[in-house]
Amino acid sequence: MKSLIVANWKCNPAALKEAKTLFNSVEKGIKNIRNAEMVICPPFVYLSELKRMKNKRSKIKLGGQDVFWENAGAYTGEVSPEMLKDSGAEYVIVGHSERRKYQKETDEAINKKLKAALSVGLKAILCVDNVSQIKKDLNGLTGNLLLNLVIAYEPIFAIGTGKACSVERAEKMRMSIKEKLNKKNIPVLYGGSVNSQNAAGYLEKGGFQGLLIGGASLKIEEFSGIIRRVDR
Ligand code: PGA
Repeated sequence: MKSLIVANWKCNPAALKEAKTLFNSVEKGIKNIRNAEMVICPPFVYLSELKRMKNKRSKIKLGGQDVFWENAGAYTGEVSPEMLKDSGAEYVIVGHSERRKYQKETDEAINKKLKAALSVGLKAILCVDNVSQIKKDLNGLTGNLLLNLVIAYEPIFAIGTGKACSVERAEKMRMSIKEKLNKKNIPVLYGGSVNSQNAAGYLEKGGFQGLLIGGASLKIEEFSGIIRRVDR
């Protein structure tokens, strides 16, 4: 099975021009990639433009970094699942720890977002820092909805700190997550200070099915290094 490599650009880069340049560089860098599925999650405002410039045969898929739970209505500032799809997104990150922290997102809100995103056919990447979040975030989600679900284990101490989780510890968490999911076939990614040196370890030794990459996804050299290593 192909590894799923997700780039989370967060609130970067500062202008569309830079976003296009970065996107182009990644596109060139992954031309010969075989064993990985690449997803880029830029800020909402860049999605449509990146969709437009995407080569027809592009191997890059697009994703959102968040989504609202209603499809339309009086919800100032929100972006709906249908809008995301229309802007070219196939994936969406839900429940990232930065949103839990800065936007005070609750498990209840995350649960609603997941249901809404999965219901319109988006693939949802649920970020968790511990196993107890899983039960609350997935409450009531069953059957076919789970087919498009991906879990990302993202320990808070490792996010953006340069202090990645050890592969051994991450693997234990991956196994606990699998246990919690009743061993269902839901892919589990690792995220948190992934770089070109440590990336392969999470896949080869840790048994993860992919990576969620923040800071390193903005540095084209580093990112290409990660891709090369995981595509072997
Ligand atoms: P990082 O971020 O790679 O910069 O640690 C990962 C994430 O927040 O998803």
